[in-house]
Amino acid sequence: MKVTVVGAGAVGATCADNIARKELCTELVLLDIKEGLAEGKAQDMMQTATLLGFDTRITGSTNDYSKTAGSDVVVITSGIPRKPGMTREELIGTNAGIVKTVCENILKFSPEAIIIVISNPMDTMTYLALKSTGVPKHRIIGMGGTLDSSRFKYQLSQHLGCSPADLNAVVVGGHGDTTMIPLIRLATWNSSPVTNFLTAEQQEKIVKDTMVGGATLTALIGTSAWYAPGAAGAALVESIVRDEKKLFTCCVALDGEYGQKDICLGVPVTIGRNGWEKILDFKLNETEQAAFNKSAEAVRSMNGVL
Ligand code: 2OP
Repeated sequence: MKVTVVGAGAVGATCADNIARKELCTELVLLDIKEGLAEGKAQDMMQTATLLGFDTRITGSTNDYSKTAGSDVVVITSGIPRKPGMTREELIGTNAGIVKTVCENILKFSPEAIIIVISNPMDTMTYLALKSTGVPKHRIIGMGGTLDSSRFKYQLSQHLGCSPADLNAVVVGGHGDTTMIPLIRLATWNSSPVTNFLTAEQQEKIVKDTMVGGATLTALIGTSAWYAPGAAGAALVESIVRDEKKLFTCCVALDGEYGQKDICLGVPVTIGRNGWEKILDFKLNETEQAAFNKSAEAVRSMNGVL
């Protein structure tokens, strides 16, 4: 199994690090446009192999896509991250060109690859990857909801005083501060609705804090977060290469599901060897569906900028 991570910045490197530690593939390529960056980080990671006990062979490449040839899965993290006060949407001008070029180069050498998009604005970049490449829709996966759902579980666990691992909770819709929809009504603590244990004020705060989870970290750190985004990318790679068919919220092409068409948006899907395999209908209530439609409208107008 061969995996490529494009972009050796903080998110890409963290994603690669997680992939290597879990030995998700025999060959892992880290590629970046900046001279020496990917080679240096790959070497640094390889020097942890004996300490951490993994056998994945990591190589770095400065923009030489021939090194990525035959990749089964490619994670795209390229592009500029947001700075404090910026929305993900403001990155579109720079990142659209980058993501389009990366997709073209990747497919020249790995025409069968499953592509995971992390670059922002993620919903529009996923749509761009789909439309500009013509790759079958099941092979294009946007990572956003996987990360947002993990952040949602973190927020819930803080209020419930429980292990995040005991929670089931998903965020659907767009990966934007105002477009994501944490589905608190459907969230459970080991099968019991979390709403049984939280006041209305707590629920409102959890939803709000989840939605601005990325922005909060950007304000604290001075740039976009990387540990959870990188780990979320690696979790999707794991479900693909091990054909786990785990359920994640991912940004995928909708063709009537959740009432939307010709758009990529976050919905619950199973992820396995074929990419995203099945969209699950979580039967949104009227309020949730209205929020989903509003989210789609915002993402659609962003897609119109392409
Ligand atoms: C975030 O929310 C990188 O979009 C990513 O942190």
